Amino acid sequence: MSPDTTPQHVRWHAPASAAALAAAVSGRTLELAGQAIEARGSFTIVLAGGNTPRAAYELLRRAEARWSDWHIYFGDERCVASDDPQRNSRMANEAWLAHVPIPRSQIHEVPAELGPVEGARRYAALVAGIASFDLVLLGLGEDGHTASLFPGHDVDLAAAVPDAVPVFAAPKPPAMRVSLSAGRLSRAEHVFFLVAGADKMDAVQRWRDGEPIPAALIRPVHGVDAFVVSAEGS
Ligand code: 6PG
Repeated sequence: MSPDTTPQHVRWHAPASAAALAAAVSGRTLELAGQAIEARGSFTIVLAGGNTPRAAYELLRRAEARWSDWHIYFGDERCVASDDPQRNSRMANEAWLAHVPIPRSQIHEVPAELGPVEGARRYAALVAGIASFDLVLLGLGEDGHTASLFPGHDVDLAAAVPDAVPVFAAPKPPAMRVSLSAGRLSRAEHVFFLVAGADKMDAVQRWRDGEPIPAALIRPVHGVDAFVVSAEGS
């Protein structure tokens, strides 16, 4: 099937620094969590991997929130042991999750240590009951990838694609990963892209120019918010 033709609506935000990006994303996350918990008694959030989100996670670690009503998922995971330093879940635990009282039963790590196929199968089953995530956090790679959806791979928006997909030859090591699909990542009330670093600016420009980079295939009905800082670390 051809990729979905729903246009992607992007709201571009230009925080003054990486620290301002972290503050904006963590502050807005807390706001959305309060609204969701007030309205429905729970808040479901999909975490981004990589390094950029770390500062936002560290701010959330120090925040006051109804943590017992938070439910944590991951947009992708590397197929390494669950305690491997390369794990996205390990970064999130160390920066934030291990320091707040979210019930461990509500932190849903990807069983990527089982390998791409079994990990994707199990995670697809786990998220099947969630019609729409309240918030999805995503990063952007230099090549335009997001989560573990890479250019040149079969990033298909067809409804028949499972919610979680195996990745075998990721150009960003490690090669084997599990990723939520573009369609699954798009079934969300809010999607925030966290982008920092001069090395990402070419991908951002290609995105703005309308090129079909994987990030451009994330098309929630309410659009996406892209927080973009060209300088890193400041
Ligand atoms: C991963 C991430 C990946 C990441 C981007 C940006 O597992 O590597 O899911 O999509 O978000 O590569 O990474 P940085 O934030 O480290 O630049």
